[in-house]
Amino acid sequence: MCGIFGIVTDKEQPLGPILLEAGRRLAYRGYDSVGCATLHADGAIDLRKDVGKVNEVAARLHFEEMTGTRGMTQLRWATFGKPSQVNSQPHLDSDGDLVGAHNGNVVNNAELREQFSAEGMTVRSTNDGESCVHAVERYVDQGYDMLQAIRHAYRDLEGDYSFIIGRVGEECLYAFKKGSGLVVGIGEGATFASSDLPSILPLTRHILRVRDGEIVVLRPEGAALYSVEDGLPIQREVEVITESMDWAVKGGYAHFMLKEIHEQPQVAAELLHLLEASEHVQPFVERMAGARNLYFIGCGTSYHACSLGAVYLAQAAGRSAIPILAPQFIPQYAPAVGPDDVGIFVSQSGETKDVLSALYAAQRRGMTALALVNVSGSTLMNESDHYLPLACGYEISVPATKTFTNQALAFLFLALRMGGRSTEALAPLPELLEQTLAQVEPQVAALEPQLVSHDDLYCLGYGLTYPIALEGALKLKEVTYAHCEGMLSTEFKHGPLSAVDEGYPVLFVVGQEDVPVIVSGINEIACRGGRTIAIGVEDARLRTNAQECITLPPSDPLLTPLLATLPLQLLSYRLGLARGYDPDFPRNLSKTLTVD
Ligand code: G6P
Repeated sequence: MCGIFGIVTDKEQPLGPILLEAGRRLAYRGYDSVGCATLHADGAIDLRKDVGKVNEVAARLHFEEMTGTRGMTQLRWATFGKPSQVNSQPHLDSDGDLVGAHNGNVVNNAELREQFSAEGMTVRSTNDGESCVHAVERYVDQGYDMLQAIRHAYRDLEGDYSFIIGRVGEECLYAFKKGSGLVVGIGEGATFASSDLPSILPLTRHILRVRDGEIVVLRPEGAALYSVEDGLPIQREVEVITESMDWAVKGGYAHFMLKEIHEQPQVAAELLHLLEASEHVQPFVERMAGARNLYFIGCGTSYHACSLGAVYLAQAAGRSAIPILAPQFIPQYAPAVGPDDVGIFVSQSGETKDVLSALYAAQRRGMTALALVNVSGSTLMNESDHYLPLACGYEISVPATKTFTNQALAFLFLALRMGGRSTEALAPLPELLEQTLAQVEPQVAALEPQLVSHDDLYCLGYGLTYPIALEGALKLKEVTYAHCEGMLSTEFKHGPLSAVDEGYPVLFVVGQEDVPVIVSGINEIACRGGRTIAIGVEDARLRTNAQECITLPPSDPLLTPLLATLPLQLLSYRLGLARGYDPDFPRNLSKTLTVD
């Protein structure tokens, strides 16, 4: 997830140290390149940027010595296009009198770049941040002032993003928010804007929160907000923040896990916008469609997304795929694959050794290797033949949450496209995820005391919800240290049923189309004294048969598994905390396993 920071001051001064410090504070979001630009009162722009870590690039390019009245820094998290000097941000316009940087994704970037070149502008990179600058340049060249030019540019720039831009010969910076974060800080003789609070709080505690569709004009003495729709000023009170930096880094949540759970509606919306507009989806789908055998390969949570992806592919495209744990792919399938086969390697980190070993084994046999990967610049991203980014930003908490949702969503999107079906059915998902979080939070809180002392439980599902049961059980294991097994509900009677006695807890994840088969599983356990908890859309059959129900909002059955994941994530989080553990960093586990 990119990060931006801008500063406007009342006199020419050293800005490099402030920009560098802000960059260091944005680093926790994850990035691959970094840049700084300062604007001098005499009209000169000093722009320095490159691939690498903040401290390393800053030392190489001497950020500390940069001066000016206005400045900005950007940390880039590459989505498309390899991290490179030219793709690093900030960017200049054609004749070098505008400089700007963005955070987020401009999804019609390819189309815009062609238009800008055809209009005679100098397009230097493939990065969408540069498109934000040219989109403003286009209207400045037509004689509009900056505020009006940004209003016009907003209509041309599709996607979720925020940006900061400055023009030589002026005293202010401009910022705009649509879908990505943007906050403003009001200091003494200086005003700041940033994609998030932690880079501003050490400079001022006086904060102005910017909403989507608002333009901010930053001047040394303060900031003014304008509506992008009608250009009219907006009045908003400045807030004084009293909480700690730690609170700010966690976005106001007690833990990264909770923050990342709550980010799911937003990251799902961003991924959908990205995939809808991406020119990379069609070739991806064509390769999948042309495959003799299709394998979905991953470990841990990513494997569960593979498992759900295979059910989606069957149901939405009428095609089969083999989901397989990466290490088992090597003995079980690698000896039999060849150039006609296609594997989709799925990994949040893109560095899991088990996944990379499977990738290399597949590539040695000439198999096509596609990837779904979150971390930009990772080995999997670089070594695969084609990849789609998961657009989740940095996931800090060891238990994966938002990356699972976007992995599964990417599979569903690809399955619908492969089946020649519209992806419109996915549009309500972000709103449904939001609704689910609000609806299930009190239900999960009520369940917590009943489960907190159990060291042994099961989580069962069927069809589309079987992979969710596996993922729910993994989350519960990771965070609560209790034994929780995920299983196909119909398999329970073939052995585990013997463990059931009075009060033994079993969670059921229920899809609308599988209620009868789940109800018979519930009854097998209930009649032996077990405690049954059903997670699904409101249904009289579940209410009558299960002891507890966690209800989800009604949705397209293909979306229900994604919604059902949320109460299991929240339950794991709450139970882990109640048992006295740190949900972000469970003992013995690592976010990225780079060993066999
Ligand atoms: C580790 C993590 C898991 C993760 C798995 C795969 O075991 O603790 O949370 O699901 O690796 O990681 P990847 O980065 O490949 O998705």
